[in-house]
Amino acid sequence: MMMKALVSNRNIGTRVLNLASGKSFGKGVELQDLSIPTLSSQEILVKVHAVALNPTDFKHIDIISPRNAIIGCDYAGVVTSVGKEAPGGWKVGDRVAGAVHGGLFPDRGSFAEYLKVDGDLAWKIPDGIKDEEAATYGVSAVTAMLALNARLGLPWADDAVDVEGDNNDAQQTPNARTILIYAGSTCAGLFHVQLAKLAGYTVVATASPRSFDLVKSYGADTVYDYKSASAVQDIISAFPNISSAVDCYSEGKSTEFCTKVLKATGGRKVITLLDMGKSSTPGVEYELIMAYTLFGRPFAWLQPVGPKFAAIPSDRTALARFYANLPRLISKLKPPPIRLIDGGFDGILMGLDDLRQGKVSGSKLVAKL
Ligand SMILES: NC(=O)c1ccc[n+]([C@@H]2O[C@H](COP(=O)([O-])OP(=O)(O)OC[C@H]3O[C@@H](n4cnc5c(N)ncnc54)[C@H](OP(=O)(O)O)[C@@H]3O)[C@@H](O)[C@H]2O)c1
Repeated sequence: MMMKALVSNRNIGTRVLNLASGKSFGKGVELQDLSIPTLSSQEILVKVHAVALNPTDFKHIDIISPRNAIIGCDYAGVVTSVGKEAPGGWKVGDRVAGAVHGGLFPDRGSFAEYLKVDGDLAWKIPDGIKDEEAATYGVSAVTAMLALNARLGLPWADDAVDVEGDNNDAQQTPNARTILIYAGSTCAGLFHVQLAKLAGYTVVATASPRSFDLVKSYGADTVYDYKSASAVQDIISAFPNISSAVDCYSEGKSTEFCTKVLKATGGRKVITLLDMGKSSTPGVEYELIMAYTLFGRPFAWLQPVGPKFAAIPSDRTALARFYANLPRLISKLKPPPIRLIDGGFDGILMGLDDLRQGKVSGSKLVAKL
């Protein structure tokens, strides 16, 4: 059986040119008819109903994706086939969502009519949650879990929260610790803010003034304008005990901003979402995380010269735990504001262009297929 999918088609020369110039030459992707992915015994097949867009999708198209890779990570849909030993207790017809490692493989990606995914790395959409909402708990959400719970060791939402009721003891802990979430209005940032609050932390965030109310409505205790010349000092004065930071922007001077705060408050680690090199501040280290390590498989970019990444089994375990508990946590973990885009696959390409041009603020683009 065949399906339609958005597939990368750039050669290595153009990708290197894009990397060097910061531009995007050519379209880089085309709609193709492909065979529906073949399942391993551990996997399920999903008919995709909605997809959410991430900056990583256009970055893959422009720079990382080899030819013939299916683009796209986040999805929501319905199970149409179940591998013989697939974990998760799936049945045909179950509603399902999650993220896959799109942009690198010819048979794995969400901007397609069908996708395959390991049975324990997807979550069951509860009644009352729409596909377009469910699709947003992909890369942005799992990155927040990876940064906060798996790497910084914040209490897991399923441990810290009585997910069946309204009682949230963690939020009433008198000596709650404090974390800085830089760029709290990014979709990744909104999930970081929420998971840090569920872990009982005081959350100090940065954003543009236009996003202050949004970030506060997701739980941030205080929000500072990252463009203000006094923001670093204001944060240090008001919160002299910040123990760690996640830089959800990780470009320009954002990580340096976080480092200045932590140096004064005694914090030791800034998690970054893009490669910001090494910290030049003694006592404060940078740790780059990548959502792709959650999928449990090694991978490589820009072969044969680019970097190789080992599988990190503990990250895979973390993703399985997060998605197993998400159906019960969902009432405590809001999706980002959603902007629905029309036009199916064409709409996805237009949405990716908006992301590429920095035209999206405080919302997640979602397309229905
Ligand atoms: N390593 C990983 O695994 C991983 C995972 C997820 C995301 N990422 C990366 O993290 C970044 C954020 O991703 P996302 O999907 O969360 O982004 P997003 O929602 O598309 O981000 C949009 C937001 O960026 C903020 N922004 C724009 N310019 C800024 C600046 N100069 N300084 C600070 N913030 C600025 C804007 O906030 P205001 O409107 O408030 O200014 C806007 O709301 C991207 O670079 C993405 O590739 C990496």
